[in-house]
Amino acid sequence: MKIIGTGRANPAKIVTNAMLEEFLDTSDEWIRERTGMTERHVISNEKLEDLAAEAARKAIEDAGITPEDIDYIICSNVVNEYITPGLSCIIQGAIGAKCACVDVNAACSGFIYALDMADDRIKSGKAKTILVVAAEEPTRMVDWKDRSICVLFGDGAGAAIFRAAEGTGDRSDTGILATKIYADGSQYDHLCSDGGVSLNQKAGFIHMDGKEVFKVAIPSLVQGVEESLKIAGININEVNWYVPHQANLRIIDSVAKKLEIDMDKVVVTVDHHGNTSAASIPLALAESFAAGKFKKGDVIAISAMGAGFTWGGMVIRI
Ligand code: ACO
Repeated sequence: MKIIGTGRANPAKIVTNAMLEEFLDTSDEWIRERTGMTERHVISNEKLEDLAAEAARKAIEDAGITPEDIDYIICSNVVNEYITPGLSCIIQGAIGAKCACVDVNAACSGFIYALDMADDRIKSGKAKTILVVAAEEPTRMVDWKDRSICVLFGDGAGAAIFRAAEGTGDRSDTGILATKIYADGSQYDHLCSDGGVSLNQKAGFIHMDGKEVFKVAIPSLVQGVEESLKIAGININEVNWYVPHQANLRIIDSVAKKLEIDMDKVVVTVDHHGNTSAASIPLALAESFAAGKFKKGDVIAISAMGAGFTWGGMVIRI
């Protein structure tokens, strides 16, 4: 399946490190050195569903299709305004599509999980044109008094349209060439929220053992790329761009070193987006397409890791 359009939407409010210094015991220097972040978009007056629909509409326009052409919507999301219905249905209503919809929650790896599902659905012949949206508002789930967490996150929505395409099934194809997803639930409590409808009727706050997650994140992101490249039969030297989940520039740097990919080939948005959970990869893709970074024939490797733990990788040829 081929990627035929992308779109993105960020909340209007930008919170800089200097703004965080005003109410937290933190510093611009600490945040930049430890995370690579300088600012992040934070949802305030907007609704996440509106950002998600905006990103979807832009992707539809970019693809040159109409909402009626879409025959499946997958939305990757951790929280939104409602516990039910899922955000995918709200997006469908807002853009005027008429198709089946489903939500997937695989935290920061959600976009890769959603694309893995989309790829299977297209290969099985059950769908021809799929809209995948990742829309996240982690800043609603952080304690703004907890400096070790709240500085890390930002909000936003990214969308992409995928369409079935005939191929030869080998490495010369365009579109998604390989996906590989993983999970290990035995360590879920290193990164989870302390709230839930059954637990305490609260949304709760995100808690993270940052050092532990840091250690797990690096080999997981490396594995996602290496294993999906192996499936695709593509060498790391043939990769034109690496688009990692944007959690921390130090993590991205180490993964790039281990993969022996030059940082010039790595898409970095964590500086101005912070960690937008599953939205980070589609936001980075949409931004790169809009900037004209990707050229026809380019091979893009992607990997993500998040709560669960979940992780995975994929390879796309544009
Ligand atoms: N400003 C100033 N100081 C701070 C801040 C802050 N915002 N936050 C923590 N500190 C302090 C700590 O209190 C600690 O002080 P101490 O030494 O006096 O105890 C010191 O800085 C060092 O803290 P560490 O937690 O050891 O800092 P570290 O270098 O590990 O960086 C970070 C923390 C950025 C969270 C890092 O561990 C990380 O990026 N972890 C991985 C996050 C990740 O990848 N998440 C992905 C998934 S997210 C998802 O799925 C939702």
